[in-house]
Amino acid sequence: MKLIQHLLLWGVMLSSFSSLAADKLTIYSYRQPFLIDPILADFTKQTGIEVEVVFSKKGIAERMSREGRLSPADVVLTSDFSRLMELVDKGLVTPVNNQHLNQNIPASFRDPDGNWFALTQRVRNIYSSKAHLGKLDITYEDLADPKFKGKICTRSGKHPYNVALVASMIAHHGEAKTELWLQGVKANLARKPQGNDRAQVKAVKEGLCDIALGNSYYFGKMLVDPKQKPWADAVEINFPNQQDRGAHVNVSGMALAKHSPHQVEAIKLMEFLSSTPAQQAYATMNMEYPVKADVPASELVASWGEFSADKLPIYQLAQNHQAAVALLDKVKFDL
Ligand SMILES: [Fe+2]
Repeated sequence: MKLIQHLLLWGVMLSSFSSLAADKLTIYSYRQPFLIDPILADFTKQTGIEVEVVFSKKGIAERMSREGRLSPADVVLTSDFSRLMELVDKGLVTPVNNQHLNQNIPASFRDPDGNWFALTQRVRNIYSSKAHLGKLDITYEDLADPKFKGKICTRSGKHPYNVALVASMIAHHGEAKTELWLQGVKANLARKPQGNDRAQVKAVKEGLCDIALGNSYYFGKMLVDPKQKPWADAVEINFPNQQDRGAHVNVSGMALAKHSPHQVEAIKLMEFLSSTPAQQAYATMNMEYPVKADVPASELVASWGEFSADKLPIYQLAQNHQAAVALLDKVKFDL
């Protein structure tokens, strides 16, 4: 009887061990699968580790909280910084101190405590009408200048891309000045905030406005899309604040899930995503700026010219995130 019990126990242990070993890594991703699938296919080819992507536009943090210890998530990928912070704030990540990650990703692009790592950077550009304004030497502060009254188009102020920009304004100018600035920008809007970043450039093409706020990679994406190319052709891409602090950048990034069932393999994947081939793939496929210093931007992206980026450490955006949301509410930016 004892022997049978032992054998049964061993059987259970072995089968749970082998199912763990055969398990796939699970990525919870705010980034769309087509952006990362080719990179993950390379990872699987090199390591033999299979990866499954669970994509969601929102609610990943809530889902992980709900799942708790039973969450299958190993790595989380986000398309912007505030979502990384949300994971950290809710205690859903595990810090990683890894030599490869620390080498590949400059200190300003990762959490000092290893809770999150940036993978790509993107500029919040100011696009200007070729026909009416031409190329501009412009600052974010200029967006509140009355000379642009009725000329500016943007998506919702509450979108994470704009919240991060407002957070950077608070970091540099304080809340009182930023509130005045937001009121000025609001007074200059051509229409109620709406649509996505590309829709603003389209609106310039259609003559609804002369200035649009938008992320850098959308310019590249419009240029290679036959339907959208005329929108991109109607504008100049400008890198703001080149005479002073540099252009505001946001990042996409990754974190190790707190209850990752496969920590060793998950960290291997994180190392891979920070490595030169993966960084190159991000640069070409999604037209973003790699965080790894020795990986150049794609030829198309590089053709927009060199620029200086705001040196404000990314984590300082996080510290001003709530204040930025509160100010956007206070000035009723979207109404
Ligand atoms: Fe985006």
